[in-house]
Amino acid sequence: MDNTEKNQCIGEPTEPANVVILGAGGDLTKRKLIPALVKMLRCGLLHPESKIIGVLKQRTREEWLESLYKGIKDYAPDLDMDEQQWEVISSMCKMVDGDLQEETTYSALAESLQTLNGRKSALFYCAVPPRWYTTIAAGLHKLGLADETDGFRRVVIEKPFGMNLESACQLNAELQELLDESQIYRIDHYLGKESVQNLLVYRFANSILEPLWNRNFIDHIQISAAESIGIEYRANYYEKSGALRDMIQSHLMQVMTLVAMEPPVEFTADAVRDEKIKVLRAVRPLEPASLKKQTIAAQYGSGKANTDEDEGIKAYVAEEDVSPESVTETFAGVRFHIDNWRWQGVPFILWTGKRLPKRVSEIVIRFRKPPFNLFDTHANPPMANSLVFRVHPDEGIALRMNAKMPGLTTDLQRMVMRAPYSENGEDVSDAYEVLLHDVLAGDATLFSRADEVEESWEIIEPILKAWEDRISVDRYRAGTWDVPGMDELFENCVDGWHKPS
Ligand code: BG6
Repeated sequence: MDNTEKNQCIGEPTEPANVVILGAGGDLTKRKLIPALVKMLRCGLLHPESKIIGVLKQRTREEWLESLYKGIKDYAPDLDMDEQQWEVISSMCKMVDGDLQEETTYSALAESLQTLNGRKSALFYCAVPPRWYTTIAAGLHKLGLADETDGFRRVVIEKPFGMNLESACQLNAELQELLDESQIYRIDHYLGKESVQNLLVYRFANSILEPLWNRNFIDHIQISAAESIGIEYRANYYEKSGALRDMIQSHLMQVMTLVAMEPPVEFTADAVRDEKIKVLRAVRPLEPASLKKQTIAAQYGSGKANTDEDEGIKAYVAEEDVSPESVTETFAGVRFHIDNWRWQGVPFILWTGKRLPKRVSEIVIRFRKPPFNLFDTHANPPMANSLVFRVHPDEGIALRMNAKMPGLTTDLQRMVMRAPYSENGEDVSDAYEVLLHDVLAGDATLFSRADEVEESWEIIEPILKAWEDRISVDRYRAGTWDVPGMDELFENCVDGWHKPS
């Protein structure tokens, strides 16, 4: 397949392997996994002799392939796939029909793997709800499919890894009974995002940032994920999860560890993860007395989106399958403190919400104000400098500075120096391509280790406890930034809440 010009990804080619997707009839497979595999194949990151084996039930292979084809057209139109290319992909796809609860499914899978001319290595992607993870691991274990004698056997699982500390520990213990920790890849798609990975490169491949990267120069740090979408069709999951579990405990805390960690001794999975976990261990425990000041929970009411054709957004409680009395938060904010030498006194404020005016995810490093204002007789006092890592959209970095207004004046204006990643139109890889490639290459750097997951739940646990019995929740109007309590969450933070622009 020759599409190399259009899809230039950079990375090491992987050895031929079997990519087994358990639960291949679901949304994740057609929206994310298959488009990522197609792209990897095009640019040589997936070996053309690899096979994609879907385990699903109640469908013929033709029906399954048809849904994958439609998925690529609907969710990855940029791939611009033609019939000939589809022929190549579809010929790589095998299907095992079966129920994940039945042992016969795993024996059929074992048989299918055996017939694939000698390719022994396999990645098992659990594209199913978490309650199936242990069942799948047990099925693989029982049939010897997790045995790595003849090639690697790696199991990928998606968040949520538990719903609290206890269930996370239980899930880890169950999986570690059946698999070696090195075989478990806990995927967090945020860590596969280009700009999140670039954070480490910016920090540790440049010498100008590290001297400033500490309490002496930084006032506070904001890590955010604003979304304009609502909960879509996921009320059943979201009602139990809420924004704190859905985004903060997982994605945003992972990003926080990358922002705050010390330089690792080497760029290997364990060295990086050892440093990340030190950050989590240094997070100051949230005390009941300070919880009210340090956390925010809110839920969207009805409102209006920022589009011309918009006819209005219904309130969260009016969404399908949501209880009219629901107090689940669709917006969450937490102010953390990291008690170590580097970060003492620097708040890390993590926030996320659905049905906000736009979809923007950013890391904002807000520096201290200049110690003295030489221009205080003029308009516009200097703002604190901010270094913004835009996670999406428009991945890149921006440095906000104060500058002189043009002309015969020393009045100040804000100036933004932007460095987008894709200025020349080159592709910014999708997180799933990066992460699937890393699993095939055996690089676990961007995947969460069991102890990291447990540590992050331990930090969140007091908030979950405090919120579990609440009988009401603050509201914000959908499509606005009017979230109650945000200004208080940024108390004493220079220039306050940075609303994405
Ligand atoms: C998922 C959450 O993990 O991340 C969703 O479950 C959220 O609720 C999504 O919408 C956000 O991901 P992205 O890549 O669109 O920012």
